[in-house]
Amino acid sequence: MRISPCGINSRPDVYWTPKTLVRIPASKPNLVIRELDSIPDLLRALHLEKDVWGLHDADVTPLTTAIASRAAGAFWLGAFDDADLVGIAYAFPSLHNGRFGFHSHLLAVRPSHRGTGIGYRLKLVQRDRALALGVGEITWTFDPLRSRNAHLNFGRLGVISDKYIADFYGPQTSSPLHVNSTDRLWVTWQLGSRRVGQRLQGGEFRPEALDALKHLEPLVRFNGDSRPVLPDVATAVSRQRVAIEIPGDIGCIEQENLPLAREWRVATRTAFTAALESGFIVKEFCRTIRGHQGPGAYLLEKAAEV
Ligand SMILES: CC(C)(COP(=O)(O)OP(=O)(O)OC[C@H]1O[C@@H](n2cnc3c(N)ncnc32)[C@H](O)[C@@H]1OP(=O)(O)O)[C@@H](O)C(=O)NCCC(=O)NCCS
Repeated sequence: MRISPCGINSRPDVYWTPKTLVRIPASKPNLVIRELDSIPDLLRALHLEKDVWGLHDADVTPLTTAIASRAAGAFWLGAFDDADLVGIAYAFPSLHNGRFGFHSHLLAVRPSHRGTGIGYRLKLVQRDRALALGVGEITWTFDPLRSRNAHLNFGRLGVISDKYIADFYGPQTSSPLHVNSTDRLWVTWQLGSRRVGQRLQGGEFRPEALDALKHLEPLVRFNGDSRPVLPDVATAVSRQRVAIEIPGDIGCIEQENLPLAREWRVATRTAFTAALESGFIVKEFCRTIRGHQGPGAYLLEKAAEV
């Protein structure tokens, strides 16, 4: 039986029962997304967390916390390729700006399975679960220098953001993904909004966003040799729209030239902080605005326009 619990038929290849959601794409016939509802399942999820972030044991979510949070209503979802757990999504109940919702703390897919839509599918199941409980909002944070995550979050899922937090988890953790500080954009996914509905149905936003970006002087932009340039911030934030460019693959830059990665961090931190404090909202992200694997750009607009 095919069920559409949220009224948006965005997933013709997804079937679910209250306990199990099964995706049947042509390329991965054995992929299943389901609840992680036993202690061995949760242990496997925590191993995956440790592997994906390369964490020391002390920084991995404790098993007892995972068990307790699940018992208290958190969603622990796993994507299985046959018997292998290849992706997880963990979201716990939250209270934000006086509203009850869910905060998604972990989304991870094993490198071997990335780029095949598993992260996206896990988010869709999170959304279904929240809507089924009458919850309209999921929040999470991500590193705004990571182009892949920016594309998934803004481009595919339709989040928006009005908050930038420097060093969210402290200046560094044991994860190699956190060597360049742990700054985060706090994003909100308004699950039942028209914007999100259109995005999940594949609504095309790029032509309009690219057109806007073409006419903007970026607040952070690439100079000729891959370094960030920060023009006059005060002038830029007096406009109605601004752009912030980021590299196509910050992970590569971190490995090859950490000081340059730090320059990108400082420039984008300054720009996001100034813009969001001046009433902008981060609204879109377009990857590769200048050719294949070139820079991507965020589009920010003054809140009244969103
Ligand atoms: C973020 C993560 C969960 C995504 O998982 P995934 O299964 O690869 O995600 P999907 O395949 O659903 O979507 C990835 C999208 O990014 C795109 N992408 C890949 N590399 C990219 C890049 N450098 N720049 C922009 N987009 C990129 C893919 O093409 C795909 O988009 P598309 O389907 O429109 O083509 C995974 O990369 C991961 O585990 N990363 C490490 C941990 C992490 O950062 N977690 C998230 C914290 S919020």
